Amino acid sequence: MDILEYQIRQSFHSAVCGLIHEIAETSINKKGVFRIVLAGGDTPAAIYHRMRELETDWTKWFFYFSDERCYSENSGKLNFKMAKDSLLDHIPISDHQVYRIETYLGANEAATLYNSVLNEVNSFDLMLLGLGEDGHTASLFPGNDLGESVSAPSAIPVFNSPKPPTDRVSLSMRRINDSENVIFLVSGESKRLIVEKLKSGSELPAAKVKGKISTKLFYLTENQ
Ligand code: 6PG
Repeated sequence: MDILEYQIRQSFHSAVCGLIHEIAETSINKKGVFRIVLAGGDTPAAIYHRMRELETDWTKWFFYFSDERCYSENSGKLNFKMAKDSLLDHIPISDHQVYRIETYLGANEAATLYNSVLNEVNSFDLMLLGLGEDGHTASLFPGNDLGESVSAPSAIPVFNSPKPPTDRVSLSMRRINDSENVIFLVSGESKRLIVEKLKSGSELPAAKVKGKISTKLFYLTENQ
């Protein structure tokens, strides 16, 4: 994993959006589509806001989610709602380009449903991920089954998340690692210790993430 540190928010945003743009254009030129997975959390939200400005053919983009919180269908606390407000409602795309995780049905049913969606989808071109102080990523928390085996489903239900709410659906580690490129989006002094741990190698969930082409962690050291 390459770790890149930034002190200035503008430089962090430009570097991340520049790389997302480059990966998107490469995918579109090569395959005619770009499959991106969106993460939840505050750091990704700020990036989505900036992504609206990208000059790209948005009709070629397909959006998926790394994980979702179990709340009612239109709750403001959903990762889907955050992505909608910060990006999806502001770009020229249609509904069939966005694949939300339907957690209002409950974690088990939503995971089953998302599995059937993802079974039809090839490797992701880009996976965006957040990072928790405890080393979690998506909704894969230390001590839980991360879904690492070759037979693990793409999406797994989670019932004991230490970050609220307790019930969630997450992509499994197996499916996360079936991505060409991975970008971690991390900010704030509270994340310094965990970023150091990842640098020195560790057994934490985030340390197990490895894209097939590249894995980069962008760290904005100041709080946003
Ligand atoms: C969520 C995310 C979670 C998040 C990290 C980092 O539901 O919140 O799935 O994995 O990305 O906790 O979030 P912050 O950037 O807000 O610290």
